[in-house]
Amino acid sequence: MKKNFFKNTGCVILAAGEGTRMKSEMPKVLFDICGKMLIEYVLESVSKIDYIRKIYVVVGYKSELVEETIKHTICYNKIKNKLVFVKQPKLLGSGDAVKQVKKQIDKTIKNLLVISGDVPLITSETLENLLNAHISNGVDCTVLSVIMEDPKGYGRIIKDISKKFIDIVEELDAKETQKAIKEVNSGIYVFSLSKLWSALEKIKPDNKKGEYYLTDTVKHFVSKQTYLCKDSQEVKGINTRKDLIEVSEIVRNKIIEKWMLNGVTIIMPQTVYIDWNSEVEQDTKIFQGCVITNSYIGKNCVIGPYSVINSSYVKDNTSIVLSHVDGSEIGSSCSIGPFSRIRANARIYEEVKIGNFVEIKNSEIHNGSKIKHLAFIGDSTLKEKVNIGAGTITCNYDGIRKHNTYIGEKTFIGSNVSIVAPIKIGDRVIIAAGSTVTEDIPSDTLVIARAKEIYKKKHRLIKKMFYSK
Ligand code: UD1
Ligand code: MG
Repeated sequence: MKKNFFKNTGCVILAAGEGTRMKSEMPKVLFDICGKMLIEYVLESVSKIDYIRKIYVVVGYKSELVEETIKHTICYNKIKNKLVFVKQPKLLGSGDAVKQVKKQIDKTIKNLLVISGDVPLITSETLENLLNAHISNGVDCTVLSVIMEDPKGYGRIIKDISKKFIDIVEELDAKETQKAIKEVNSGIYVFSLSKLWSALEKIKPDNKKGEYYLTDTVKHFVSKQTYLCKDSQEVKGINTRKDLIEVSEIVRNKIIEKWMLNGVTIIMPQTVYIDWNSEVEQDTKIFQGCVITNSYIGKNCVIGPYSVINSSYVKDNTSIVLSHVDGSEIGSSCSIGPFSRIRANARIYEEVKIGNFVEIKNSEIHNGSKIKHLAFIGDSTLKEKVNIGAGTITCNYDGIRKHNTYIGEKTFIGSNVSIVAPIKIGDRVIIAAGSTVTEDIPSDTLVIARAKEIYKKKHRLIKKMFYSK
């Protein structure tokens, strides 16, 4: 019997609000915490409860943007058959938002889980416990409550002297005595649908904000209860950027702890940021001040101090010190930095050394090559064991188009060489320091392409400058 009850469960996620207190053009539910948006966290937790038949996401402020963004999330595929977007035409409050679902509701749904889109840490276990408490006690309204040491900003749970739950009063409308109450509304509820629609008809915008509050339906239910969530962090709502950073810190610490327990050493962990979309293998050491997003870091690497790695793949035994790597792949046993910048689809093979003030862009650098100081390599292929001297650059851009450079294996390019692309330089070539090369160079060739020095002993300028009184 119980099973059937669960089968008739639907869920509403409230995501129409503008998020005024964030002071932003962007809808609040699209704010990011460690690589995942607020709404994604909530959707993921809800998606884990298989028996939820439909998920109604109420959208309003910048609704097209919110819908489109949700359609590009990782969990969208899992839930797309259940997902229904519901438009709230005017943002008249959380009660009005739930009311909009009525016209699109699946008629078989009996119980409705309602959850704010701004409570990202909620787990599916807590949601299931709440649904269990609602269904097994046979009530019409169950509110997930929590004890907050600092209840500021939340709706307060009002109980009578016999501890019977009677109402929720919003902070703005609360009397001083009510403000002292520490049990608050988490913004997560289960309602029996048959009673919810009539309760929603009864609420009025007679409060300080002039909104239709969902919380005002509570007093219209005869059988109702609160269900206490033990962990106050889990239901922390995000209304301001301060809330966002407080919750980000909780998530960031969780991620750091996960990798530490997986065998990664993280020095000064309070300064390291790793997002949900990154992976780090064991025996890698991450020093202070690193930011790792959307990336994979192999085994036994040394990252940092102060490195930023984004959308990149780094293989085993590589070190990346004080450097910036973006959208690139770095092979094993490489040494990068300090002060290197590797970007835009660069592919670095194995045992490559890239040193200080070197920029590599959209290039392939094959095994054992060295570019150790002050160089720019763009749109180039460097075969095995190429050596690039300090100050050498590939001149890849003629002001209109980008051109490619090819450098064959073991070629040695001296300091301060300008390699004007398009150009193909063969294997085992030597180019003298200070050369500017513009034409293809065959293999096994020495090239000196610079003006010859002129020496003028005791020139009149020498005399004028150093010997005249
Ligand atoms: C709400 C609760 C409060 C609770 C707190 C927990 C109400 C009236 N109050 O307050 O009791 O302690 O959450 O975090 O619900 N929304 C819409 N359409 C609207 C207005 C809001 O969809 O017209 C959505 C928002 O996008 C948000 C949710 O409803 O996801 C809650 O709105 P918010 O303004 O954050 O309410 P709180 O002040 O946090
Ligand atoms: Mg809120």
